[in-house]
Amino acid sequence: MAPKTNPRHFLDISDLDGKTLRRIIDAAHAMKKAGKRVPAALRPKGIEDANLVMIFEKPSTRTRVSFDIAMRQLGGGAISLNNSDLQLGRGESVADTARVLSRYADAIMIRANAHDTLLGLAEHASIPVINGLTEKSHPCQIMADIQTFEEHLGPIKGKTVAWVGDGNNVAVSWMHAAARFGFTLRLACPKSLYPEDAALDWARSEKAAISIGDEPEKAVRGADCVVTDTWVSMGQSDAAKRKKMLAPFAVDAKLMSKAAKGAIFMHCLPAYRGHEVSAEVIDGPQSVIWDEAENRLHAQKAILAWCLGA
Ligand code: CP
Ligand code: NVA
Repeated sequence: MAPKTNPRHFLDISDLDGKTLRRIIDAAHAMKKAGKRVPAALRPKGIEDANLVMIFEKPSTRTRVSFDIAMRQLGGGAISLNNSDLQLGRGESVADTARVLSRYADAIMIRANAHDTLLGLAEHASIPVINGLTEKSHPCQIMADIQTFEEHLGPIKGKTVAWVGDGNNVAVSWMHAAARFGFTLRLACPKSLYPEDAALDWARSEKAAISIGDEPEKAVRGADCVVTDTWVSMGQSDAAKRKKMLAPFAVDAKLMSKAAKGAIFMHCLPAYRGHEVSAEVIDGPQSVIWDEAENRLHAQKAILAWCLGA
């Protein structure tokens, strides 16, 4: 399947067709099975000479370390830079940064404050650009989440996932995934924290099986998987107001008990126990958060391999 974009950017799950995404997830399962040394059959040609440049405008533990190690396990190299390490941090344009990095590296991963920075890089780079989180979406996380879901519960197509909490960047990528992977997504968010209209309109236009309301129990009832995220995302300043609004959306054992028998709990991390999720749930038997964190490594090996031509 030829990619829609050339180079093969990985900007949002909504940009790619279901077949390409399925191929990446299948590769992620194979990457995990293969372990640290990725076999030649799963590696893109010329990976030994390939380097990934990573730019972080916001903090990161998982994305930073898993991308770096993913690139090494594929057989290439990686450089991790904070915004302030680059001239970008003191006014060099995104377009010029993209053009220069394209002359050195083979792919760019950016965690950006503004989604427009990601799009600007992609527009001007002649190498693949990967979204490592923006204020609008977090597609690499949800690829790892799909992998995790399937490891525990089999193919995600036709299953039901409940998102409870803030209608944030992670929720939006779940919406994109629901449309592309063919599962039902039920969101429960305070009305003022619904995902942005563009995402809801997109889901409607794609005829995705997505419902939204502000009743956590209704969303969770019978779901195969319950997901939440921090109430205060990076860059948000209204923490006290958000915590108050989101308090009724905390995932605790009582709420979890409404999900299907054998349901799993996911959280992209970092987590704040006693806020969006109780310790009993996140550290309990239904939680698969450590597999989910590990799968960032495997899913990203598969994303990198696709971006670099495998
Ligand atoms: N889940 C996630 O993206 O974690 P980091 O912010 O640590 O990269
Ligand atoms: N919604 C969170 C995700 C962190 C990985 C944030 O943007 O801070």
